Amino acid sequence: MSEPIIHVENVHKSFLMGKEAVLALRGIDLDVLPGEILCLMGPSGSGKTTLLNIVGGLEEPSRGHVIVKGQNVIALSEDKLAQLRLTTMGFVFQNYNLLANFTALENVEAPMALAGLRGRKRREKARSLLQRVGLADRERHYPSELSGGQQQRVAVARALANDPDILIGDEITGDLDSVTGFEVMDIIAELNEERRTTVVYVTHDPRMAKYASRLVQIRDGKITSDETGEAALAALEST
Ligand SMILES: Nc1ncnc2c1ncn2[C@@H]1O[C@H](COP(=O)(O)OP(=O)(O)O)[C@@H](O)[C@H]1O
Ligand SMILES: [Mg+2]
Repeated sequence: MSEPIIHVENVHKSFLMGKEAVLALRGIDLDVLPGEILCLMGPSGSGKTTLLNIVGGLEEPSRGHVIVKGQNVIALSEDKLAQLRLTTMGFVFQNYNLLANFTALENVEAPMALAGLRGRKRREKARSLLQRVGLADRERHYPSELSGGQQQRVAVARALANDPDILIGDEITGDLDSVTGFEVMDIIAELNEERRTTVVYVTHDPRMAKYASRLVQIRDGKITSDETGEAALAALEST
């Protein structure tokens, strides 16, 4: 069996709200294997976004360990963490989060610029990624000139800019109609096939969850079910 690319061990997270502690995560253990498409489902407020943020190094757990591609995320210096985030992980969000004053092409180029890739190489790679998500003819468009689905496809291309091992998505089809949502998920599933990119994504929509090879359910900050393959589909039927 291969080494997990993500290892989460006994992760707790509490937020202080005034004097009250909100327990967002209460002992999460999760190993994700390379090439898995893991769908995380659970009611609103159950801790899904918090867990993704901790895996992505955006937030620190109150307790526990997080290892991503062999690196101890919590112990990394700010620089090393930024590097890990830039080169190992790609992020896609519900509201696309594109830079409004950048064209589609420039948005895809941005993470490559941060990683030090320059000039024509960078431009060509951005072009090929936009082509990959079916937007070759929209490279000069600004986000405001694109539909929601097109913006999300740009966001997927941007997330892939530095060839990440892991794609992390938080309700990425939440604002899209189902046909457009399927298009975005189809692209992600194809990328998983082609590059074996590991995918961890949150959705509320059982139709989008069907893309997963593994279904993890979370409730009140704890994992309540973790099923792979056929069993995942069966678990989905009962959600
Ligand atoms: N920055 C924060 N400050 C205080 N409480 C937070 C913060 N982020 C999340 N929470 C709380 O943690 C719990 C889990 O939130 P979240 O991870 O966003 O859930 P989900 O993504 O499953 O809807 C919720 O009770 C939420 O109110
Ligand atoms: Mg959330």
